[in-house]
Amino acid sequence: MSTRTIVITGASDGIGRAAAEALHQRTDTTLVLVGRNPAKIAEIGERLGVEYHACDFARLGDVRALAATLAVNHPVIDVLANNAGGVFAPRRVTVDGYEETFQVNHLAPLLLTTELLPALKAGEGTIIFTSSMAAFQGTIDMSDLGKEKGWTSFGAYGAAKLANIVTAKALLRRYAGDGITTASFHPGVVATSFGARAGLFVRLFYGSWLGKRLMRTPEQGADTLVWLATTKPGVDWKPGGYYTERQLKDPPKQAQDDAFGDRFLEASDLLIR
Ligand SMILES: NC(=O)c1ccc[n+]([C@@H]2O[C@H](COP(=O)([O-])OP(=O)(O)OC[C@H]3O[C@@H](n4cnc5c(N)ncnc54)[C@H](OP(=O)(O)O)[C@@H]3O)[C@@H](O)[C@H]2O)c1
Repeated sequence: MSTRTIVITGASDGIGRAAAEALHQRTDTTLVLVGRNPAKIAEIGERLGVEYHACDFARLGDVRALAATLAVNHPVIDVLANNAGGVFAPRRVTVDGYEETFQVNHLAPLLLTTELLPALKAGEGTIIFTSSMAAFQGTIDMSDLGKEKGWTSFGAYGAAKLANIVTAKALLRRYAGDGITTASFHPGVVATSFGARAGLFVRLFYGSWLGKRLMRTPEQGADTLVWLATTKPGVDWKPGGYYTERQLKDPPKQAQDDAFGDRFLEASDLLIR
């Protein structure tokens, strides 16, 4: 039986780990798991008996090295789930010179995607972005992508998750002719390790007993990712679409502006050269 190669980032915890566990049940899937923490990604990789890699998205050199390894190991990729991310406070600039939340949630996944394009084209692959409804509170300022002015952790996070939706749509416009499809989704408010490095309010909410009771489980949060990864684009879901609980939703206003999206993708390309 031919298998489909699915690469999941952020697979060492939370939604990505739950997605990996769900997809592992399928016999037609070859899983490749990526996480930041070497011990955590080794734990799930060894437990499931699948290929795994540690990579810190706060270092673009590490992302390039990961992509080079994956491109050799997997000349054909069917699904790339760009799921790694989070909200990171206080404001920090990475070794690459970019604001950390912007880099980890947007630039690093874009770099990984770009480097894996030959394999994705070969597989007529699907690129999935784990975004967030926080995108509706975000604004992308083309003249201040790192939010140097008036930085707040949630402002930076909202803009980065908006970037995921904008990028999914712009990549589709650019590569649909190569058979590539894209999607983005909001997983719900999910009880994971999310927020462990966020500002006080988010950290308290996600860490509290009540917060955990009110939130969705990682398995529920992973459901739309697993669905997008295992169903037919163009038949079961709309390429370029933004989904919540398997339902197509209108994305934030800035993500509805195609000309803006193309300019943003071009500006982002320049930052990862
Ligand atoms: N939980 C929610 O309510 C919620 C809501 C909307 C959207 N999301 C999005 O869902 C995605 C998954 O988050 P989660 O809720 O599952 O949180 P999580 O439990 O904290 O998992 C985050 C994953 O991203 C990885 N990651 C974090 N920083 C990284 C870095 N510098 N380099 C590489 N990988 C890194 C983590 O790796 P390590 O564990 O190895 O550090 C982990 O595997 C994120 O994109 C998040 O923005 C979450």
